[in-house]
Amino acid sequence: MVKIGNIELPDFPLLLAPMEDVSDPPFRRLCKQHGADLMYSEFISSEGLIRDAIKSRQKLDIFDYERPVGIQIFGGDEEAMAMSAKIVETVNPDLIDINFGCPVKKVVCKGAGAGVLKDVDLMVRLTKAVIRSTSLPVTVKTRLGWDENSINIDEVAERLQDIGVQALTVHARTRAQMYKGHSDWSHVERIKNNPRITMPIFGNGDIDSAEKALEYKNKYGLDGMMIGRAAIGYPWIFNEIKHFFETGTHLPKPTISQRVEAAKNHLQWAMDWKGEKLGILETRRHYTNYFKGLPNFKEHRMKMVSSEDPEFIFETFAEVLGIYEGIELV
Ligand SMILES: Cc1cc2nc3c(=O)[nH]c(=O)nc-3n(C[C@H](O)[C@H](O)[C@H](O)COP(=O)(O)O)c2cc1C
Repeated sequence: MVKIGNIELPDFPLLLAPMEDVSDPPFRRLCKQHGADLMYSEFISSEGLIRDAIKSRQKLDIFDYERPVGIQIFGGDEEAMAMSAKIVETVNPDLIDINFGCPVKKVVCKGAGAGVLKDVDLMVRLTKAVIRSTSLPVTVKTRLGWDENSINIDEVAERLQDIGVQALTVHARTRAQMYKGHSDWSHVERIKNNPRITMPIFGNGDIDSAEKALEYKNKYGLDGMMIGRAAIGYPWIFNEIKHFFETGTHLPKPTISQRVEAAKNHLQWAMDWKGEKLGILETRRHYTNYFKGLPNFKEHRMKMVSSEDPEFIFETFAEVLGIYEGIELV
């Protein structure tokens, strides 16, 4: 068992990564259904939260069936981070996660996200401010360092644990790498092997198959792993990995009918959550992934993404099922 504060997770838990515009309640519900053990909201700006920005507040929506669930915040100002932790606490998540890894310029320029990797003292102050203002467990997600010449995750891990951080997830790239090149988990393995480190250490980056998950589990000896991009349009990955860990055999791939069901649920849940118009708009980006690999799919996708009529979109799903049922995707 892996523990974060009072949260009990199974051995070697699989975490759904926080992903902006992706990790919202409908998507999380699908991932939960298919085996994710711990999930996070997309990152939420602390400044936005305290300005009461509607968009930021909406990202705080969580539901009991998705527990345990964490809310992720980011920011470069101690007071704003402390205040936003208090706001986050009002919706009663299981934990608060701080993002010190976002490489995007608009975040880094404000001294937040991965920007803080250049200033570990500031990172520690920001984290302390959050820990002091909440009774929830606080966890951190970050990268290896700013660039390959300044990998400082060893120092970061020790200092964060010393002030009370209860788990650390490392996306095993530097900020300079953005999403390019490979993630190098050997740096995360080193943290885990540091005898001073007792908090759970989760690895993240490039897990896209059950084989790779097992290879990395065996090779790096961490406490669990976080999966992001590979779950987009493919929430089945969590149970596929778990099954492979347990049996060494593969679950059958989801059928077209299961893919259509997932897309339908996603759309329905998004509309239930955000209303018809926004639900339809925000689910559009997922269809390509649910139906990846289907030959001549473009025409159907175009129908799905250009309509604002839910009935029409549901009919298109039924049409897709009729045409492609029985095709096996690898
Ligand atoms: C579309 C997208 C949005 C992301 N948004 C966030 C975010 O809000 N917070 C965060 O910590 N990381 C974010 N990330 C990074 C992921 O959480 C994860 O660290 C990264 O994708 C590497 O994992 P993967 O190879 O399994 O995708 C985002 C990544 C993607 C692709």
